[in-house]
Amino acid sequence: MAEYEPLVIDRAEGVWLIDTHNRRLLDGVSSLWCNVHGHRHPRIDEAIMQQLQRVAHVTSLGMSNTTTIELVRQLVERTPAGLECAFFSSDGSSAVEVALKMAFQFWRQCAHPESERDLFLAVGNAYHGDTLGSVSVGGVSRFHAMFDPLLFDVVRGPCPDSYRRPQEVAEEELAAYYIEQYAVLFERFAGRLAALIVEPLVQGAAGMVMHPAGFLRGLRELATRYDVLLIADEIAVGMGRTGKLWACEWEEVEPDFLCTGKGLSGGYLPLAATLTTRRVWDAFLGEYAQSRSFFHGHSFGGNPLGCAAALASLEIFDEENTLANVSRRGQQLDECLSRLYKFRVVGDVRRRGLMAAVELVSDRASQAPFPWADRIGHQVCQRALERGVWLRPLGNVIVIMPPLCVEAAHIEQIVDAVEYGIEQI
Ligand SMILES: Cc1ncc(COP(=O)(O)O)c(C=O)c1O
Repeated sequence: MAEYEPLVIDRAEGVWLIDTHNRRLLDGVSSLWCNVHGHRHPRIDEAIMQQLQRVAHVTSLGMSNTTTIELVRQLVERTPAGLECAFFSSDGSSAVEVALKMAFQFWRQCAHPESERDLFLAVGNAYHGDTLGSVSVGGVSRFHAMFDPLLFDVVRGPCPDSYRRPQEVAEEELAAYYIEQYAVLFERFAGRLAALIVEPLVQGAAGMVMHPAGFLRGLRELATRYDVLLIADEIAVGMGRTGKLWACEWEEVEPDFLCTGKGLSGGYLPLAATLTTRRVWDAFLGEYAQSRSFFHGHSFGGNPLGCAAALASLEIFDEENTLANVSRRGQQLDECLSRLYKFRVVGDVRRRGLMAAVELVSDRASQAPFPWADRIGHQVCQRALERGVWLRPLGNVIVIMPPLCVEAAHIEQIVDAVEYGIEQI
């Protein structure tokens, strides 16, 4: 905050943020990867106003409400097969905590309990949120190192980074190369692992690290072989961001848990959900005195206003064919971004759906990063503001994640602004 330069938004419409000086800024990162169909979409606004006429909030502890129940129906229908139950919370980190705790408790209450299962397997450089459980399974040292003494032990596999990969491994062998290393961990900790948690396809906060094709599928196969529960953290990649509603769909993976947040309510309201299977659900059923409850409840979990927004958002996916737009605009992004390689500081341009990144390096050949304290990414984004585009980098990685309703001219403007920013810096 000592260096904070005030940027205060007064209102927004579509992809535009309008600040208190009436400056119009293109929301190039969807208000931190949340917004899906644009700001103030009439259909979502209307759904929230309609819900307000009924009830703004009731608890999900010991009761429910018709809107939240309808959202569960829709989610169960639209998520990968096997996911039949949903537990609501208010943010992504909590959705991850829920999955971790449920997986842990499952092994203690399932038909054949295995109470030795007390470990989680996580991916190197993962990010799953900022609460202590999600930080424990996270691995971005810049965010997490400070809290190390507070965290529980986690088994950690390598980060399957398609850009910073071992030189001797060809691209088409990369998934197998990493899966082999995970196989060793599954074998070594067989019978101890409660669950494996992964961000499917793209590790967002690690710097938009793209996994090699087949990696997620390979993890699912290992988890099935060793009967380890698979938690898919779709908080960043879900809700259409990668071009399918769920990233798991690309590799036909059916997880045991799916965490969704951010875009779940169209990016309007704090709403997250942890979906799971009937098998997990059943382990929590029993007589009151058996105390098999899942003791975890958030005040605003399943809030009907958020659920009304989420239902409207799902309808818009159908009505506006949002996923087709992700595909079209994604291809356009590729074409536009490729011209940035003319700058020798551009080490890599990568993209999945409307999740793209431009990584700035001090040396392209060695992939050497700029010192983080130089804030190169931040400086580029500050200059991009002069071209009417708001971006928020991850260190030296310029993140481009516009709302999924983005139009061709907006893509041009974003890339122009990044180009201008790099040129200036
Ligand atoms: C993959 C992933 N998981 C979890 C989270 C945490 O979500 P929230 O910020 O809503 O707590 C994030 C946030 O960026 C994320 O990208």
